[in-house]
Amino acid sequence: MKTLKTCLSGLALSVACATASAGEVEVLHWWTSGGEAAAINVLKQEMEAAGHTWKDFAVAGGGGESAMTVLKSRAISGNPPSAAQIKGLDIQEWGELGFLSPLDEVAAAGQWDSLLPQVVSDVMKYDGHYVAVPVNVHRVNWLWANPEAFKKANVEVPTSWEQMIEIGPKLKEAGYVPLAHGGQAWQDATVFEDIALAQGPDFYRKAFVEHDEATLKGDTMIKVFNTFRKVRDLIDADASGRDWNVATSMVINGQAAMQLMGDWAKGEFTAAGKTAGTDYICAPAPGTEGMFTFNIDSLAMFQQSDDSRIEAQQDLARLVMEPKFQETFNLNKGSIPARQGMDRTPFDSCAHASMDAFTASAESGSLVPSMAHGMSTSSRVQGAIYDVVTNFFNTSDMSAEDAVDKLARAVNASL
Ligand code: BGC
Repeated sequence: MKTLKTCLSGLALSVACATASAGEVEVLHWWTSGGEAAAINVLKQEMEAAGHTWKDFAVAGGGGESAMTVLKSRAISGNPPSAAQIKGLDIQEWGELGFLSPLDEVAAAGQWDSLLPQVVSDVMKYDGHYVAVPVNVHRVNWLWANPEAFKKANVEVPTSWEQMIEIGPKLKEAGYVPLAHGGQAWQDATVFEDIALAQGPDFYRKAFVEHDEATLKGDTMIKVFNTFRKVRDLIDADASGRDWNVATSMVINGQAAMQLMGDWAKGEFTAAGKTAGTDYICAPAPGTEGMFTFNIDSLAMFQQSDDSRIEAQQDLARLVMEPKFQETFNLNKGSIPARQGMDRTPFDSCAHASMDAFTASAESGSLVPSMAHGMSTSSRVQGAIYDVVTNFFNTSDMSAEDAVDKLARAVNASL
């Protein structure tokens, strides 16, 4: 079969030629909010422009838990999509089960090894072979703030958790929900890991990467849980089950003063036509200046038997690493390109801050994988942490001492 490239390099692109080489690519993802949909649409358009057919397989649900459940049932029934948004250690799990197809040829032709930071390429490889392609790098430890709220309440954007808790009553008096939040396990875990990170990258790593028992149930973790409980006072009574992007819109429309969320939240500000630095403020989550919890989104390829589908997969992987895609996707998504050496000019001040923090934190040892977003540990351990964290957050009768004990036991049991 002729490849699409061969067709395009001919004198004219005949319809027959394009049809013979075009393939269908079915892509499972959970990018359904305004900013997310704008971002994935960039890939759809590029694939269609290359002559392929895009079959969208969107499964709504922030953090991707529902999408992963649907993916498992499709794979078990022997009918996985060509590409799926899976990331972090989940890639290793799918690789071990033998579902993924290698991308080594595209990777070698595109020089991925020299274009990707090693912290990124390591995640994309299973057993030394590329099986996934990175679309971005998200920073999780961000605080998003509405400047108007801070002006009205006459308080400063907090740089420590003590300040964060202290300004709560003043923001409430000024008519704002201090912290917009959605009561879902992954969102609770996102806030929890921010508080843990403020205890330093070594503590964070010991707890969420190494799962050191003494750290999981030590005094510092007790302190983290106690702070976490106080943060709950900053949240409104209707937070239960609220989607993350609805929480972001509360900051955008001036109902709430802040949100703690990865920079996919910036995609929502962008989609609403807001400008970083004037309409909204991005600041490191309290106490985490110079640190960076990374969350890399990637598309992994599932083995297919049809030649045209295999070709479409390879083309998808190639296109994702092109500078044009990395720029346009990330401008919409709120993240920074995974590909190094990109022009920074089109990006805003928050993206510049993220790029600088990524480089600086890698040098200082403060670049850590996000636990809440599947980068630091297996989905089993992550699920165990989620359970304890979210139970603690939603009940008043569990002490921080009980919580750390439960945490250490739950993690140990799922290792
Ligand atoms: C993903 C992001 C996504 C967010 C909310 C995160 O786990 O990495 O790409 O925007 O969940 O759905």
